[in-house]
Amino acid sequence: MIDAGSSIIGQSRTLLQCVARADAVAMTDATVLVLGESGVGKELIARRIHEHSRRARQPLVVVNCAAVPRDLFESEFFGHVRGAFSGATRDRKGRLETAHQGTLFLDEVGEIPPELQGKLLRALQQMSFERVGDDQTRQVDVRVIAATNRCLAADAASGRFRPDLYYRLSTFPIEVPPLRERADDIGLLSDHFLVEIAGRLRRKPPRLSKQQVRQLRAYDWPGNIRELRNVLERVIILGNASDLDAVLPPSPKPRAAALPRTPAETIDGDYVTAEEVLAFERNNLIAALEAAKWRVSGKGGAANLLQMNPSTLASRLKALDIRRPAPNSLYLRIGGRATITALARDLLGRMQADPQVGRFWSDRSMVGIRQEEKLLIQYLCSELGGPTRYAGRDMVSAHAHLPINASDWKVFLGYLERTFEALGLDQSSRRSLHDAVDALEPSIVSTA
Ligand code: HEM
Repeated sequence: MIDAGSSIIGQSRTLLQCVARADAVAMTDATVLVLGESGVGKELIARRIHEHSRRARQPLVVVNCAAVPRDLFESEFFGHVRGAFSGATRDRKGRLETAHQGTLFLDEVGEIPPELQGKLLRALQQMSFERVGDDQTRQVDVRVIAATNRCLAADAASGRFRPDLYYRLSTFPIEVPPLRERADDIGLLSDHFLVEIAGRLRRKPPRLSKQQVRQLRAYDWPGNIRELRNVLERVIILGNASDLDAVLPPSPKPRAAALPRTPAETIDGDYVTAEEVLAFERNNLIAALEAAKWRVSGKGGAANLLQMNPSTLASRLKALDIRRPAPNSLYLRIGGRATITALARDLLGRMQADPQVGRFWSDRSMVGIRQEEKLLIQYLCSELGGPTRYAGRDMVSAHAHLPINASDWKVFLGYLERTFEALGLDQSSRRSLHDAVDALEPSIVSTA
């Protein structure tokens, strides 16, 4: 997809999934938290949501929270009246008021100082505030989109960020993939930037050779799209596309973030249960087997990736009863755990953002929603013939207390189709999945 208006460029599956989530939530008034590393284009996603919302003709007010001086925060957000502090020579509207009827985009929201987090939370809950130095309460109607490259959940757990503000902001998280996870888009992005930058510098855009595109794809882009753009700008300024090595920094080592995470971040005195350790081991082995296309030994095999002795790995696979999925299983036909994870996230995101069926999730915490997402992924993986085990309750009884009616089911089927579309599933897989879902209808839809 090439979205010329706001320049979201790319066709990779990870990007399309992210855009599909943004589009699904755009028409609602839900608060959105855009997550992703620096330079991935979080503001573009926020703009797209605004432009596809009913507020599109109203202002989109952008505040970079990291750039506001600490002592000016309150006045920046809420405005002030003349004489409120030295230098306040006239009344001034804050960003919240300027965004009235539109969207307020809080970039780098993790940088808001602690003393203002409580005030901001109150303003967002009540949609009202006072200008600094004023006692008149003003009402606003604002949709909030926040973005961060920090792990706000960890900040909330450690007390660096107010948990209640975190929960308020994270109603609908959207993760923007880093460039290294959408390497398929690098050619398209490079062509776009070369033409744009060359036009601005009044130069002829150079063309990259296949080998050079391969070189760009092999690099891991810690600075993401912003870094790619800078590198290409240097190529044009140096006037010499023939030597990319001169402008491409040496590839950094894989980062901690790319390594598998442990089941619980254990800290001194904390522990995980034997069952959790086994579940972690199981998932870890399956992830390595999938990465190695189920080859156990040899170069690039799972034992090699795990830096384990192949016979030790083979005996662990036996002990944990991990078996290769059948080649004709729906699990493998649709793309394994990666596709199922994308499917569950996309579908749950659309359902939560829907005005009708969203009611089933409105009281649930982020932790509860994440847990449900995890269980749904496990359930689908195991039902479709994958090696993952479902560790939840009985799926049918999980819905027994929920008043899911026929009209909710129709909404669900509509989103299911849109998710299949966004994932690009082939018709025969769609039909098989529909058959499986149809068979479950009587046990999920309540007739009461
Ligand atoms: C074929 C269709 C569906 C499947 C396979 C499915 C699967 C699941 C699974 C595996 C869980 C986790 C259960 C556990 O705790 O172990 C779950 C929970 C849940 N599902 Fe579904 N679901 C389906 C349809 C729906 C629909 C149509 C809705 C609402 C309109 C819905 C709403 C929920 C809710 C709210 C929960 C959380 C329940 C709780 O924790 O109390 N599901 N679902």
